[in-house]
Amino acid sequence: MKFATPLVLALAAPLVAGSVLRERQASSSSSSATSSSSTSSSSSGSSGGAFPTDIGYLGKGTAGQVPFLAENDTLPGSRGNSPYEYRFNATDADAEEFDIWKSMGNLSPYYSSPSYPETTAHKVLNDTCSVKQVHIFHRHGARYPTSGSSEGAPLLGQTVANYTAAGNLTANGPLAFLKKWTYGLGTELLVPIGAQQLFDSGVYHYQQYGKLFNTSLPHKPVVRTPSQSRMLNSSRYFTLGFFGYDAPEKIDLEVIIETDGFNSSLSPYDDCPSAEDVYVGDDYLAPVWRKIYTKSAIERLQPHTNIPLTPDLIYGALSVCPYQSAALGYSPWCGVFTREEWEGFELDLDLQFAGDYGFLSPTGRAQGIGYVQELLDRLSNSSFSGPVTTQNSTLDESSTYFPLDQPIYIDFTHDDVIVSVLTALNMTQTGDYLSSTHRDPKRNFVLSRIAPFAGRLVFEVIECSGKHYIRILNNEAIIPLNEDQGCPRRADGMCPLEDFIKHQKAHAYKDSNFDYVCFGNYTTPHSGVRNGTLG
Ligand SMILES: *[C@@H]1O[C@H](CO)[C@@H](O)[C@H](O)[C@H]1NC(C)=O
Ligand SMILES: *[C@@H]1O[C@H](CO)[C@@H](O)[C@H](O)[C@H]1NC(C)=O
Ligand SMILES: *[C@@H]1O[C@H](CO)[C@@H](O)[C@H](O)[C@H]1NC(C)=O
Ligand SMILES: *[C@@H]1O[C@H](CO)[C@@H](O)[C@H](O)[C@H]1NC(C)=O
Ligand SMILES: *[C@@H]1O[C@H](CO)[C@@H](O)[C@H](O)[C@H]1NC(C)=O
Ligand SMILES: *[C@@H]1O[C@H](CO)[C@@H](O)[C@H](O)[C@H]1NC(C)=O
Ligand SMILES: *[C@@H]1O[C@H](CO)[C@@H](O)[C@H](O)[C@H]1NC(C)=O
Ligand SMILES: *[C@@H]1O[C@H](CO)[C@@H](O)[C@H](O)[C@H]1NC(C)=O
Ligand SMILES: *[C@@H]1O[C@H](CO)[C@@H](O)[C@H](O)[C@H]1NC(C)=O
Ligand SMILES: *[C@@H]1O[C@H](CO)[C@@H](O)[C@H](O)[C@H]1NC(C)=O
Ligand SMILES: *[C@@H]1O[C@H](CO)[C@@H](O)[C@H](O)[C@H]1NC(C)=O
Ligand SMILES: *[C@@H]1O[C@H](CO)[C@@H](O)[C@H](O)[C@H]1NC(C)=O
Repeated sequence: MKFATPLVLALAAPLVAGSVLRERQASSSSSSATSSSSTSSSSSGSSGGAFPTDIGYLGKGTAGQVPFLAENDTLPGSRGNSPYEYRFNATDADAEEFDIWKSMGNLSPYYSSPSYPETTAHKVLNDTCSVKQVHIFHRHGARYPTSGSSEGAPLLGQTVANYTAAGNLTANGPLAFLKKWTYGLGTELLVPIGAQQLFDSGVYHYQQYGKLFNTSLPHKPVVRTPSQSRMLNSSRYFTLGFFGYDAPEKIDLEVIIETDGFNSSLSPYDDCPSAEDVYVGDDYLAPVWRKIYTKSAIERLQPHTNIPLTPDLIYGALSVCPYQSAALGYSPWCGVFTREEWEGFELDLDLQFAGDYGFLSPTGRAQGIGYVQELLDRLSNSSFSGPVTTQNSTLDESSTYFPLDQPIYIDFTHDDVIVSVLTALNMTQTGDYLSSTHRDPKRNFVLSRIAPFAGRLVFEVIECSGKHYIRILNNEAIIPLNEDQGCPRRADGMCPLEDFIKHQKAHAYKDSNFDYVCFGNYTTPHSGVRNGTLG
């Protein structure tokens, strides 16, 4: 079997007019293996043969402005060794300082999740325990916006550019910076700070699990990534950090085609047509909330510009802060908003993701089930026996492309897939029913804690006095497993491995209702879904 000349089955993607196309845009954008910034074959290292890495399907992508913080960073003092300016704060009504970088949903730079402090207290393993196996499911690092110019950061950029070009822009007070401001962002590609996040994570995970890298396996460990440029790049920087610069000699990088018409558990939305028809979160839940939380900013800022400010433009301006910071190192927009507005922005993104990919989406479970099936096969050392969902069964049936003997498995993926996998596993710990009219500060579903740039889900198999357990960490927070995953509640959050596997094998696929929710003929409800599927 060869990846080299894949049969292109792809159909032209039906683009949903006006809909938000975040992570999925590049995958649904084109059927051909093209990129405006393609890798060259020289980057395939020594791992050719059965594991070519230059297979194309990089997706779209354009470069943006080159950073120049020597001129653009206008905060006084030093930012330390940080590659970007993160010293912006917001203040709340009581003028208390607030860390905006943890309220940016999937655009937050990686940070350790503060969720589930009750299990974190039990993080240190007993003397009788040892970690036997680990499965790392990893998001790529910081990137340019993926969305089209009709929404989000690009909409804001384009609007300002049009006024600037027309020579009629009014901007003063807190928006005076707009007179000299440019948008400057490209699309889709990983940016250097994203590369650094993945490298750091590779080093971190080597420190955590280095001993599990078994050099006596009969084959090199297989590490899987989707083919899109930012994923492929991310896998390279992570493995650089984990295995060293000669990583291509130590592992086989399996690059799985990501585009319409090809199956992949790592980019499953392409394989569930209904998931691309209706975006409950983007189209119905988030817009309601956006009108509410952007109101204060519109009132405050409108007197300072002649651009008619709308909820979508304020959302775009909030989005520009993390994007420009990641790509260019600095964004004057970061200083413009209040604590309440940043908290509103986080919930906007939470609603989008819960409604498009999580418990509030009819296809939430279905989009995550492919990886869950693979996880269960790996945990139970059993070869793929179906049913086929989003995975490429040709690959999963092959011991070359889907080996079952690795102590360490590493797969790269997108933010939304992390959310869908949690949903398919019935991780109701993250399954809050989010209101579109009210922000619950105690909710568990906070996207920046679940899938920030370089976010990850880690499944550890731990043996204690002869008994096997599974422990699941989301950005270092130990999710306390419970009866919804077939587990007795324990203070340390772990679950007897057999119980977990048995429960998930009995329920996860069935409850995803995959064939119906992905291919059935039904009208998608615009709200009201709470369990990630339909009856
Ligand atoms: C942000 O808050 C910190 C801590 O209160 C303060 O030292 C710093 O000056 C603030 N930064 C800005 C840009 O206001
Ligand atoms: C670890 O030790 C504590 C205290 O002895 C015990 O309650 C707990 O069950 C042990 N955990 C495991 C996984 O064996
Ligand atoms: C900006 O101007 C271009 C050219 O006139 C137009 O096509 C585009 O819709 C405008 N965009 C916005 C967001 O105003
Ligand atoms: C300024 O230019 C923009 C973009 O061309 C246009 O949409 C807007 O109507 C103009 N406003 C005024 C006050 O002339
Ligand atoms: C950076 O500074 C230059 C020179 O002042 C300016 O032209 C450019 O628009 C700035 N870039 C950003 C992203 O603000
Ligand atoms: C990622 O790969 C693209 C080619 O697809 C390359 O142009 C770009 O420079 C890479 N980005 C980083 C941060 O390495
Ligand atoms: C490493 O792999 C070899 C060959 O499969 C196996 O015999 C050995 O037990 C493995 N070691 C560890 C620590 O898993
Ligand atoms: C499965 O993977 C093989 C190998 O890359 C490829 O030839 C085939 O087209 C893929 N099939 C689907 C449905 O993705
Ligand atoms: C790809 O997924 C579809 C939908 O689940 C399935 O019918 C098909 O058999 C899969 N193809 C492969 C090669 O796994
Ligand atoms: C999933 O969680 C829900 C909510 O707690 C629960 O009612 C249901 O039984 C769980 N499903 C499984 C298969 O455990
Ligand atoms: C889907 O269901 C609707 C309403 O029942 C029906 O009118 C339509 O013909 C069906 N479409 C297909 C492709 O079966
Ligand atoms: C999800 O909720 C729907 C509607 O309440 C119900 O019909 C269905 O059985 C539930 N499915 C699961 C797996 O909980």
